[in-house]
Amino acid sequence: MTRHIISIRDFDRRQIDRLLDNAKRIDAQKYDRNALCGKILATLFFEPSTRTRMSFEAAIARLGGTSISVGSVEACSMAKGETLADTIRVVSGYADAIVIRHPKEGAARLAAHFAGVPVINAGDGSGQHPSQTLLDLYTIRQSMKLDGINVALIGDLRYGRTAHSLASALSLYNAKLHTISPKGLELPSSLITELGERGMEITDHQEIHDIIKEVDVIYVTRIQRERFPDSASYFNVASSYRITPELLASAKKHAIVLHPLPRVDEIDPRVDQLPHAKYFEQSKNGVPVRMAMLLQVIQ
Ligand code: NCD
Repeated sequence: MTRHIISIRDFDRRQIDRLLDNAKRIDAQKYDRNALCGKILATLFFEPSTRTRMSFEAAIARLGGTSISVGSVEACSMAKGETLADTIRVVSGYADAIVIRHPKEGAARLAAHFAGVPVINAGDGSGQHPSQTLLDLYTIRQSMKLDGINVALIGDLRYGRTAHSLASALSLYNAKLHTISPKGLELPSSLITELGERGMEITDHQEIHDIIKEVDVIYVTRIQRERFPDSASYFNVASSYRITPELLASAKKHAIVLHPLPRVDEIDPRVDQLPHAKYFEQSKNGVPVRMAMLLQVIQ
């Protein structure tokens, strides 16, 4: 059976906990440096990426394997009209696993259908971003227990796939969700319904000030400009929220600020110096978490 990782919904709580425990062991340098010696990871990124792609490449290298890629989308045969299905069939012949990022929701699921090797979704349009969620959970767990925490999800909750995946995963941990988004960028109603059916408590707020005192995790996301139909609608909502030291002065002492990055102007750079700021540790955690994922999917 081929083991793909397409959505965080593919995991139950026990499976997530086990993967995060494995990542912790790896982080403590307790792993076999040659575990994936001779294995090849193909990275197929049809959208920009810094962290996700580089940390997957670092992850396979740390386990003794190598990575291959086509470079830019313009440089590969999809630019000549090749279908995603054909590209995936071909790449399956070259690698032991494929990491794919694509602007269309559902693309990773489609890729998994045609792949002869495991596929990991590194972001499909506004859909899912499971590896990001696993490293988000890992980072939260470094500061607190996941059970029953209060999480503020701030920003573009309509198009932001990291927010969608994280909200789903948190529903497994009885977390309470507080959403704050510019008008028109709220969590999709289908997701709110799904989370509600799983028993999750979700409260929408106008202002982050309204709940800053109550939350344990402040998860900030950028406005996903590339998914907007036109630049005018983007500029209507751009720069409409910002996390500042003044705001964090009312936060709980142990509250942490996370951001999948890249940030644009959602977090004042002065926040970087505060103990609340965990976003650079979060991006660093991408390596051990993705190592644990690769060990899980590559035989
Ligand atoms: C995120 C993504 O691609 O969804 N980036 C990442 O993987 N760290 C978030 C974003 O682009 O805003």
